[in-house]
Amino acid sequence: MKAQIAVLPGDGIGVEVVAWGERVLQHVATARGHTFTTASGNIGGNAIDSSGTPLPDTTLALCKQADAILLGAVGGPKWDVGPPEARPEFGLLRLRKELRLYANLRPVKLFAALVDSSPLKREIVEGTDLLVLRELTGGLYFGRPRGRSTNKQGIRVKDTLTYTSGEMERIIRLGFDLARQRRKQLASVDKANVLASSGLWREIAEQVAQDYPDVTVEHILVDACAMHLINDPGRFDVMVTENMFGDILSDEASVLAGSLGMLPSASLGRGRRGLYEPVHGTAPDIVGQDKANPLGAILSVSMLLRHSLGLEAEAAAVEDAVAGTLAAGYRTPDLTRGGPGERAVGTQEMGEAVLERIG
Ligand code: IPM
Ligand code: MG
Repeated sequence: MKAQIAVLPGDGIGVEVVAWGERVLQHVATARGHTFTTASGNIGGNAIDSSGTPLPDTTLALCKQADAILLGAVGGPKWDVGPPEARPEFGLLRLRKELRLYANLRPVKLFAALVDSSPLKREIVEGTDLLVLRELTGGLYFGRPRGRSTNKQGIRVKDTLTYTSGEMERIIRLGFDLARQRRKQLASVDKANVLASSGLWREIAEQVAQDYPDVTVEHILVDACAMHLINDPGRFDVMVTENMFGDILSDEASVLAGSLGMLPSASLGRGRRGLYEPVHGTAPDIVGQDKANPLGAILSVSMLLRHSLGLEAEAAAVEDAVAGTLAAGYRTPDLTRGGPGERAVGTQEMGEAVLERIG
């Protein structure tokens, strides 16, 4: 098949890991007779430096023409000044919003070879295989009014949490649909004992549940969920939640997979076009040192092949190559625990080992 892929490396280690994602894409294209045309664009801090805005119009246009977008990460200490709208992160938030990518899929699967990479006990993490489904275009991230005002009492700040019933229903419904394709268990996460928004969320989740009698649904408060996630992750299959809760819980859940560097994500809307990015950030402390784990980006490519291009066999081949590489002992610094059979490697060696294993 032919596909157009927009590549947005972003900042910091985003550049290093996306380079490997792109190599994996091209390797798959050659091996399986596809043509993937890539074109890169600036986003985040580098875009602020080159064009004064974290999401230049040219980048947005490139993404709108593409079948899928592969992104690294945005941000860094250099740009940690000024209002949120002027920062690198805003470029990413605006891109998600402009492309109406409301559903963020963050699978957290512990590869068998990494059971000892997690700081949690083997008997707790073994077999972890869950999906955090995070609403991505509403809630505190985008609500108005927001900002600061000053009066005699001092500075007053405001963030607004807004959702419509329609926005809640479409993500909750997707949660049920995805649960149906997996182990048929859905945890709907809210704070219904405190927040008005969560009260509506729970009502809608209960209504939608009527249409899915084959899926077991559990309503769980976000604080309890945070605890159960590291106590008993095996109880979770699909977890659906609003934007901010999902942001926090997905970083927490990454510990189960051995490292934040392992987690991929897909952000989807109504059509097939999606945005694929590792969950990790720009890691300014290790930039340029060949230390970044490229597997989050490579597994994001696997999600891209599956969800935007419908290439299931290719997606599985990439995942198998990652599993094989880990089984052979390859470990970037975030994964090394000094165990027997571990082979400490850098970004390059890890990337090459995966490439070699893709059939
Ligand atoms: C994420 C990140 C982003 C978010 C930041 C970089 C804006 O933390 O993708 O989880 O909060 O959504
Ligand atoms: Mg986050």
